[in-house]
Amino acid sequence: MPSRSIRLAVIPGDGIGPEVVAEGLKVLAAIGPASGLTFEQTHYDLGAARWHRTGETLPDSVLEELRGQDVILLGAVGDPSVPSGVLERGLLLRARFELDHYVNLRPVKLFPGVRTPLADVGPDDIDMIVVREGTEGPYTGVGGVLRKGTPHEIATQESVNTAFGVERVVRYAFEKAAARPRKKLTLVHKDNVLTFAGELYQRVVKQVGAEYPQVSVDYCHVDAATMFFVNQPQRFDVVVTDNLFGDIITDIGAAIAGGIGLAASGNVNPGGAAPSMFEPVHGSAPDIAGQGKADPTATILSVAMLLDHVGAADAARRVERAVSDDLSERAGLGARSTAQIGDAIAKRVSG
Ligand code: NAI
Ligand code: MG
Repeated sequence: MPSRSIRLAVIPGDGIGPEVVAEGLKVLAAIGPASGLTFEQTHYDLGAARWHRTGETLPDSVLEELRGQDVILLGAVGDPSVPSGVLERGLLLRARFELDHYVNLRPVKLFPGVRTPLADVGPDDIDMIVVREGTEGPYTGVGGVLRKGTPHEIATQESVNTAFGVERVVRYAFEKAAARPRKKLTLVHKDNVLTFAGELYQRVVKQVGAEYPQVSVDYCHVDAATMFFVNQPQRFDVVVTDNLFGDIITDIGAAIAGGIGLAASGNVNPGGAAPSMFEPVHGSAPDIAGQGKADPTATILSVAMLLDHVGAADAARRVERAVSDDLSERAGLGARSTAQIGDAIAKRVSG
């Protein structure tokens, strides 16, 4: 079978980013020709070092190059030496907005053998996908500050919600739910207080839901959702929510499913008008950077999501199985380095 060529942009980033991305690429290489794909990689030097050198976060020229790629793998960005928000807004959020990553996909799945902090809960109890809106809500940067530094300072940070934006993410979530065995969709919002945005989400879920009679629909306020993630995670199958709520509840999701070292994500442009970007949920972890202590599993699972996105479902399942097998034996193995975990998973993938 002739192999299809995929242009892969790699942004290792800061801190543990380059360490975990190296292991993700190792696993991708181990899949090899079996996936029916070959990956033409271009590495981009973006992040703290570039900002210190040139003052750039995501220059227009690089953004244009990224548009010409098929898919992006990102490690993490952020460093204590860079003021908070510079790289997060200038690089990460800019890429998500410019490339119209309106779906932020975050699976929350407890693999067998992985310890959860929840009592009496197993893999059957935690298996959901959070579909977080990625281009609207309070993250758009709409708002401003007036009389800064005075007692009369005014700071506004508007939540932007468009009918178009809500509909497309809700529709995506229904499609996901319809394709899963449980076929359940839960809207998470705060419609009792955020009445304008909440009501828009409610109305759109009702309208789009009429096209998916096979999907059962539930609603839960975000504060209640944080509680249910902990005491009734079985409630959830597919969750659809706004940008900020999704950011917060998926950290809880990561915590209940074995920790931030395992949580994968995709910033997805479903129509393919621009490349999608896959990345671990965690940040650059400056506290453990350079020590070979970072768990590369989240990045490797993000690579599996990337493979799914480019149409290599069999290869994606192979990576997931290799991760699952590794995780099931991990407890007995003691501490392993970043590279040792990557090697072990890569070996299972090619074996
Ligand atoms: P973080 O996720 O980098 O670290 C939180 C804690 O989890 C730390 O104790 C860290 O050692 C641990 N941790 C994270 N990833 C791990 C892994 N793979 N294996 C083992 N332990 C891991 O979040 P934090 O400390 O809030 O942020 C650090 C920097 O990263 C900041 O500059 C922040 O803005 C940035 N950040 C970037 C993100 C991205 O690029 N998508 C996402 C979150 C934060
Ligand atoms: Mg977050």
